[in-house]
Amino acid sequence: MAYRNLLVDDRGAVRQITINRPDKLNALNRETINELGIAFGQAGADDAVRVVVLAGSGEKAFVAGADISELATLTPLQARETARRGQAMMLGIERLGKPVIARIQGFALGGGLELAMCCHLRIGSDKAKVGQPEINLGVIPGFGGTQRLLRLAGRSAALELCLTGTTIDAARAQALGVLTRVVAADQLDTEIDKLADQLAASAPHALRGILEAILIGGECGIEAGLDYESQAFGLVFSTEDMREGTKAFLERRKANFTGA
Ligand code: COA
Repeated sequence: MAYRNLLVDDRGAVRQITINRPDKLNALNRETINELGIAFGQAGADDAVRVVVLAGSGEKAFVAGADISELATLTPLQARETARRGQAMMLGIERLGKPVIARIQGFALGGGLELAMCCHLRIGSDKAKVGQPEINLGVIPGFGGTQRLLRLAGRSAALELCLTGTTIDAARAQALGVLTRVVAADQLDTEIDKLADQLAASAPHALRGILEAILIGGECGIEAGLDYESQAFGLVFSTEDMREGTKAFLERRKANFTGA
């Protein structure tokens, strides 16, 4: 499918989806949000895709937020609908069932940080800068920022970042758990390729089980979470990959996971 605002590229089992509005710092307009929903739907449905890397074009920004020129014109009901569409798209990424890596080379602000936070791993360059600056526009985060920042970094950091709109550097973002890892800018692609290749070679049903157990576990009590984990644990014993992984260990060789 041809997109107006996205580039989609496959490298083996790794799909890279790149938001391609560099002149607008990859700001999320309505069309881009719709296209991201479609592109991730296709990545989720395609068994040949084992990992997705989400990136923004250009040097300067992953994504500099929701498109403010569109936001400025919304009625209250349209604004609520916009928030719900953005939230649904991002929930779809979070619940894709395959690992999604955000590549953050520069600004991830507002909707850009919200988009990064629905990804499972956020690899930032040492030049990355993140924040929830909506307060400076007289609005609040609407694509899940108050909720995911709270869950990722805790109440204190979520309140500070959302109330003040402060932009923080990569080191502080990593210390808060907002960035998974920070690497030198010239190593960003090498490190992401290495991570993506590692995940692409792993057993996909086990990866899905881990993603679901951790994401669902974060939203329920310990007993329900443990119960979910035991069900997911049992389910992977129905896979060829489980037999291959344990056999390869006992035979002292590298496992070849096929996804069966
Ligand atoms: N929505 C729409 N357009 C945006 C945008 C956004 N969120 N962020 C940047 N742009 C556009 C600018 O309007 C400008 O377009 P133009 O060249 O047609 O005027 C272009 O992207 C480059 O941005 P610019 O502001 O000139 O770059 P800068 O280096 O001076 O500043 C930022 C970079 C990220 C600090 C600044 O663009 C910014 O503050 N963006 C908004 C961040 C924000 O509030 N996000 C939350 C939105 S809810």
